[in-house]
Amino acid sequence: MRKLIPFLLVITLFIGLIGCSSKTNKTPTETNDTSDISSKTENKSVNDNSIESNSSTNSNTDKKDTLVVVFSATGTTKNVAKKIAEIENADFYEIEPKKEYTTADLNWNDRNSRSTKEQNDPKSRPEIGSEKISVKEYKKIYIGFPIWWGEEPRIVDTFVENYDFSDITMIPFCTSSSSSIGRSGQNLAENAKSGTWLDGKRFSGSVSETELENWINSLK
Ligand SMILES: Cc1cc2nc3c(=O)[nH]c(=O)nc-3n(C[C@H](O)[C@H](O)[C@H](O)COP(=O)(O)O)c2cc1C
Repeated sequence: MRKLIPFLLVITLFIGLIGCSSKTNKTPTETNDTSDISSKTENKSVNDNSIESNSSTNSNTDKKDTLVVVFSATGTTKNVAKKIAEIENADFYEIEPKKEYTTADLNWNDRNSRSTKEQNDPKSRPEIGSEKISVKEYKKIYIGFPIWWGEEPRIVDTFVENYDFSDITMIPFCTSSSSSIGRSGQNLAENAKSGTWLDGKRFSGSVSETELENWINSLK
C-alpha cells in the first residue's frame, strides 16, 4: 500500500495536468472562434464596402455610354424616362428649371400664363437650374419632354443649345395628352446644330416597358 501511494499521487497529478491543459487549450480556441467570427463579420462588411466602392469606382471608370435626359413639369415624362434608363442601363439627367413652373404657369387656358408666353415666343430660352453635365463620353442620348402647344417646351431648346453633341446619337421622345411629337425633334436638331438626330417618338404616360423595349430594339 505504501508503495502504491506515490504512484497514485503521480496519477492524480497527471490527470490534473491533463485537465488544466485541455482547459488552456479550449480558451484560445474559444477566443479564436470569437475572433474568427468577428473578423469574418468585419471582412464581410469590408467586402460589402469594397463591393460598393468597386461599383462606385466602376461607375466612375467604366462610364456608361447611354444617357437619358428629361424635362418633365408634372412627372409623366420623367416616369417614362426612368423606364428607358432602366432598360438601357443608362445614366439619368433631369433638366430642372431655375424657376420652377407653378400650376398657374402651366395653365394652357390662360393666354398670359408663363408657359403660354414662352411657347408663343420661339426665341424664349428659360434658364436651367440643374448643374451642367458632361455629355461627351456618351454615345447615345435619349431626350424626353412633354408636348406644350404641339412642340417641345422652350427649356429643352435651352438645353440643346448649350451642348456639343458631335458624334452622339440623339433620340427624342415625348409624352402628351394626344398630340404627336410633330416637329419637335427637327426643332431640337436645328437648334442643337450638332449630333445625329433620330426620328422621335410620342408615348402616353402609361406606356408599358414592353412597348418601350420594342421601340428601343427597333432603333438598333
Ligand atoms: C402648357 C401645356 C401645354 C400642353 N399642350 C399640349 C398639346 O399641345 N398637346 C397635347 O397632347 N398635350 C399637351 N399638354 C399635355 C402634356 O403634354 C401632357 O400632360 C404631358 O404628358 C405632361 O408631361 P410631364 O408630366 O412630364 O410634364 C400640355 C400641357 C401643358 C402644361
